[in-house]
Parts: sequence; structure tokens; C-alpha cells
Amino acid sequence: ASKTTMESLEKYKDEISGLPRDNGWIPWQPLCLYKGFWLYPYFLQGSLQARDHFEAQPSDVFICSSMKTGSTWLKSLCFSIATRAQFDIDSTTPLRTTLPHECIPFLEYCEYYTAPQGPKTSLFASHLPYTCLPKSIIDSGCKIVYICRDPKDTFVSLWHFLPKIVATMAPGQEDLVVSIEEGFELFCKGLFSYGPYWDHVLGYWKASLERPDKILFFKYEDLKKKTEACVRKLADFLECPFSIDEEKEGAVQKIIKFCSFESLSNLEVNKTGKHVRGDDFVENNIFFRKGKVGDWRNYLSAEMGERLDNIMEEKLSGSGLTF
Ligand code: A3P
Repeated sequence: ASKTTMESLEKYKDEISGLPRDNGWIPWQPLCLYKGFWLYPYFLQGSLQARDHFEAQPSDVFICSSMKTGSTWLKSLCFSIATRAQFDIDSTTPLRTTLPHECIPFLEYCEYYTAPQGPKTSLFASHLPYTCLPKSIIDSGCKIVYICRDPKDTFVSLWHFLPKIVATMAPGQEDLVVSIEEGFELFCKGLFSYGPYWDHVLGYWKASLERPDKILFFKYEDLKKKTEACVRKLADFLECPFSIDEEKEGAVQKIIKFCSFESLSNLEVNKTGKHVRGDDFVENNIFFRKGKVGDWRNYLSAEMGERLDNIMEEKLSGSGLTF
């Protein structure tokens, strides 16, 4: 971050230090409770900065999600769809040489206004809950694409991800991340980065019902099952529908194939590349694990699964949303 960014972040120190804290997942990394959601201070600083200074343009599109629900995939799809007139998916697309997350600026990083790796597009990404988005995003009528996922798979994905992040930021400390049983208890209490999960999902779900022209709501499982229909819907929503010629040439299928888990995870950049996060280098491959639906069964007992399902059912009851 530039000097001015660092100086302006100082002013959030007091606001953040006054918030309730919990050392749940990683002993030396407390989560802070802000407007009903648990955030790590690093992301919270960026969120507050965005709250106070981010000026959305009406044409900006936000790709939003809780953690580990398929944002890498959704970003790749959105980016490929939105830039297909500019780049050839077989050769020149930046996604062949750049981690998808690096192609789209992330709102909570204080550096969001500096150029990302890729070309400038109107796409942004955020893990912020709907009620924590900067006001100008809502006021400007920006479009939002949201993705959520079965909470059991989301939890299992998260539990695998955290030690990998810790390993790069605090090598040797990854064993201090909680056990799967402890992590599961925390998740069931809503205590994890950007949690509670149900409130995150509900916020965007309700908003998508109230403003369907502005908020497109996806489930990872639907994206897996009905990929073509979802991709066409995405293109329509992004106001760049596939033309008849493109349909004939198989442009939809080409994008889907390129953005598939198998294809993306086998690109050299995503296998062996690294990207900068703060003062650290993070391996790109931590964003690609299995990409399967139902992998939770390999890690959680049927009872644990049922317990989380029951919690979700209770929290989402009456909303019309089920998993
Ligand atoms: P698993 O850990 O279950 O494999 P996010 O991208 O929001 O961090 O979510 C991560 C999950 O999406 C991981 O799930 C990851 O493997 C999966 N994923 C990454 N790229 C994908 C792709 N192209 N298609 C489907 N799933 C993908």
C-alpha cells in the first residue's frame, strides 16, 4: 500500500480495536465482529476504507461470495464472458498467465484502486456481506453476481484452505490451525472469516428477490449441473449476450471448458505460480483442491452433516432458500 493509504488506515485502528474479538481458528489472528459479521482486521481495514472512499460507477459489476463457495470459478467465467471481444480464450486471455483472483480487483484490499494484473474491466470482487457493501455500490445501482454453496462442502473447503494460507504467511504455524472438529463447532456458531454463513447467504438472497434486475444469485451445485444455462444467464446479466454466430461457433462451451476445474487447475500459472498478498507470496494452487460436490462426506460424519443442515434449515426457514 502507498504511504497515504497506510496513513489513512491508521484512523481505523480505534474503530477496530473497540470491536468484540474471538481467537477461534488461528490463535494469533483474532476475528472482529463488525455489523454482525466476523472479519479479520486486515480485511476489515480495507472494508472501512472502501466504506468511506469507494466510489462505484453504475457500470461496475461486483462478484460477491462468502469464502470457499466457488468464486475462483465464477470470476473466471465472468472475466471470460466480459472480455471475449478483447481476448481469444485459446491464446491471449490473461487467465492463461494470471491467477483469476489477480485479474479482478478485490474491494477489501486497500490497494483496490491500483491496477490489478489484468486489463481494466468493470468487474470487482468482494467477500463482504450485502449489508456491509459500500453504500455507493447500492446507490449507483451496480449489478452483483453472488455465489453460495452447500455449507458442508464450504466448511470442508475452508478447513483445508486455512492451513495453506497460514503456511505461506506464518511458515511452521499451520499446525496451530484448529482441528476439523473444533473448526466445525466454530462454523456452526457462525464464527469464521465473513461468517455467519447463513446471514451472508440470506443477505444476498433477500436482496436478489427485491432487486432481481441487479442481483443474480447462483449456487455452486447449480453451476455444476446446469453450466450452459448459467453461463448464458451470466452473459445476459452482464449485458453481453452470446450472438447467434457465437452460439453456432460453440463460444459458450469453449468458455465452460476453459474455466473448468480440470483446465484451470492444470495451467502452469495455477500449478506453480505465486501471487503477492501484503508482504507475502501465496501459491496459486491453494485455490484449486478438488472442485467436487459432496466431498464433505469424506471428512464429516453423517451426524455432523445433519447437524449443520438442521442449523441452516432453521436459519433460512421462511426465506424460500434451501440447500
Ligand atoms: P474444494 O476445496 O471443495 O475443492 P473459492 O474459489 O471461492 O475460494 O472456492 C474454492 C472452491 O472452489 C474449492 O473447492 C476449489 O477447488 C473450487 N474450484 C476452484 N476452481 C474451480 C473451477 N474452475 N470449477 C469448479 N470448482 C472450482
